[in-house]
Amino acid sequence: GRHLLGLQGMHPTRIEPFLDLAESYVLLNRSRKTQRDRLRGLTLINLFFEDSTRTRTSFELAGKRLGADVINMSVSTSSVNKGETLLDTAATLNAMRTDLLVVRHGQSGAPALLAQKVDAGVINAGDGTHEHPTQALLDALTIRRRCGRLQGLTVAICGDVAHSRVARSNIHLLTAMGSQVRVVGPPTLVPAAIDQLGVSVHHDMDEGLDGADVVMMLRLQRERMSGGLVPSAREYFRFFGLDAARLGRAKPGALVMHPGPMNRGVEIDSAVADHPEQSVIQEQVEMGVAVRMAVLDMLARAQTGGRPG
Ligand code: CP
Repeated sequence: GRHLLGLQGMHPTRIEPFLDLAESYVLLNRSRKTQRDRLRGLTLINLFFEDSTRTRTSFELAGKRLGADVINMSVSTSSVNKGETLLDTAATLNAMRTDLLVVRHGQSGAPALLAQKVDAGVINAGDGTHEHPTQALLDALTIRRRCGRLQGLTVAICGDVAHSRVARSNIHLLTAMGSQVRVVGPPTLVPAAIDQLGVSVHHDMDEGLDGADVVMMLRLQRERMSGGLVPSAREYFRFFGLDAARLGRAKPGALVMHPGPMNRGVEIDSAVADHPEQSVIQEQVEMGVAVRMAVLDMLARAQTGGRPG
């Protein structure tokens, strides 16, 4: 398709080409080469209504390494502050003949709405609590490179699932690829209906981590919680934080993942976040650039009817 809005319902035959192409971009990046002819002449705009370090920077690098003209729109200094609506902002960028629009927004469904209104290919860079598809693709690439497969692995996704678009996209992708997905967290932070997505639900960390191949921690998203329902950091860590002892419940050598940004001492202890063999958190960031190159490349091909550039 022309857009990448989410992974729900996406078939493995559509997921795998992204991972395979990203694999080749990992090698390109490691050799410090670029392929500037790939997206030459195309314009990419990063439109981020929420903060970002990894996603925005890696889309910028990805676009530049493939030769696109990349613009980072700073929403905080844009006319959104003067009351311009999301759709009017999109129409404005559309009139400038943007080819690819990378959108992060606090409201679930905002990128899908934009996709109906602009000629550009739209990429969801995180919308509310809905999806963050490129994050799940980079997580899958990280796991596949380390474990050699996704099929049959047990992946424990732990923590604030309720507010996590990362969790939702990962659940859709991993269940489609044949992984066994467990969701682990306090009842207040795990939606009851999540089991309808084909995952098992656990409210005890030791039980949820038992024998897992991959332990994926989530950030406690306190900015999306209100007043009395915000757990204290100390209490949260005691029951749902990942430390060396808890990690010992998982399979020996299990991968430790976190999408970032991390709250050290809240959901994850530094000893495991920085574990020299088991933590793949920096590798996730590296895979993020390659995955976004693959996504831009594939969408640009769809956009230009298969002709490069
Ligand atoms: N994982 C992730 O989306 O990080 P940023 O919010 O820094 O982009």
